Amino acid sequence: MTTQATAAVLYQVKQPLVIEDVEVLDPGPHEVLVRWKANGVCHSDLHVITGDYPHPLPVVLGHEAAGVVEQIGAGVESVKVGDHVCSSYIPSCGRCGYCIGGQPTLCALRDSPRWFMLDGTPRFRKNGQGLHHFLQVSGYATRSVLLEQGVIPIRRDAPLEVACLVSCGVLAGAGPVINRAKVPPGATVAVFGCGGVGLNTIQAARLVGAAKIIAVDVLARKLEWAQEFGATHAVDASREDPVSRVQAIAGGGGVDFAFEVVGTQRTIEQAVLSTHRGGMAVVVGVSPAGTRLSLDPALFLQQRTLTGTSFGGGHQRTDVPMLIDLFMDGRYKLKELVTRELPLTELNHAFDLLQQGEVKRSVIVYR
Ligand code: CU
Repeated sequence: MTTQATAAVLYQVKQPLVIEDVEVLDPGPHEVLVRWKANGVCHSDLHVITGDYPHPLPVVLGHEAAGVVEQIGAGVESVKVGDHVCSSYIPSCGRCGYCIGGQPTLCALRDSPRWFMLDGTPRFRKNGQGLHHFLQVSGYATRSVLLEQGVIPIRRDAPLEVACLVSCGVLAGAGPVINRAKVPPGATVAVFGCGGVGLNTIQAARLVGAAKIIAVDVLARKLEWAQEFGATHAVDASREDPVSRVQAIAGGGGVDFAFEVVGTQRTIEQAVLSTHRGGMAVVVGVSPAGTRLSLDPALFLQQRTLTGTSFGGGHQRTDVPMLIDLFMDGRYKLKELVTRELPLTELNHAFDLLQQGEVKRSVIVYR
């Protein structure tokens, strides 16, 4: 049996996505079919379109989705038809050494190809040919099949068109502050890159009580957004050296924690250099394949830490509902992250806006 979906298909890098009807096969054992309500437009999808992040084609992208379970395969126990879910682009099996050891964002399921289901085949078909999934989510389609371990049930009263953002950008930005750096009240923090993800790093730093939150970007517009989301200081790196400026604002030789939310050699190095001895720099941004760093090892003899996170570096199955609870309670901004809501037919335009730095987040909404 199959159902239909409208999907955005990438056939060739650097070419527009083709919006077309595709077949969706029934979910197999321990798989679920989700009818998506919304999917946020993220840089990681763009990396595939531009070829910076090589991926088998054709592929249905999208990995920041929220929707309603429409059908379940044999043996599915953790969700039922009608449940509201966020996608989890990193599944958690609950059984491997990573999951048992408390690091479910590193789950062993990541080791099998993420463009197929676990049996090594896709659930999308067009003209008799299979289409690849993206991170086993593929939210740029009205429907897709996911692993049971790749959906996170959420409360029903949360609006799906904003809840979808938590499925990638929000948790990716906030999680490093809460889970990795464990920023304490009164800390000094710098955030390099104030787009849709960095604004969540800033917002989370504010939430946990950081004293100085120094936003760094090259676009004045993004520095304004940063202040709306809780930054106490703004540094325009197109006009001044961000490292010396951050150090001067922080005092004491630099910040306690620096978060890099751009994904370039330069900004990662700047983040490390802006910390004081013993400080921590956390990589959040996704760098193009092949990026390398150049840093003086003496920085690490001074007990600095350079680390990073996957999907917030905590427990995705509880972190996603936790952030949605904070939003529903009025303590976390999600609606303010959405600059534009667009239909799937305007997805190519949404990527243009993202590349131009025009939006915090665009969301593709299905009616
Ligand atoms: Cu993403």
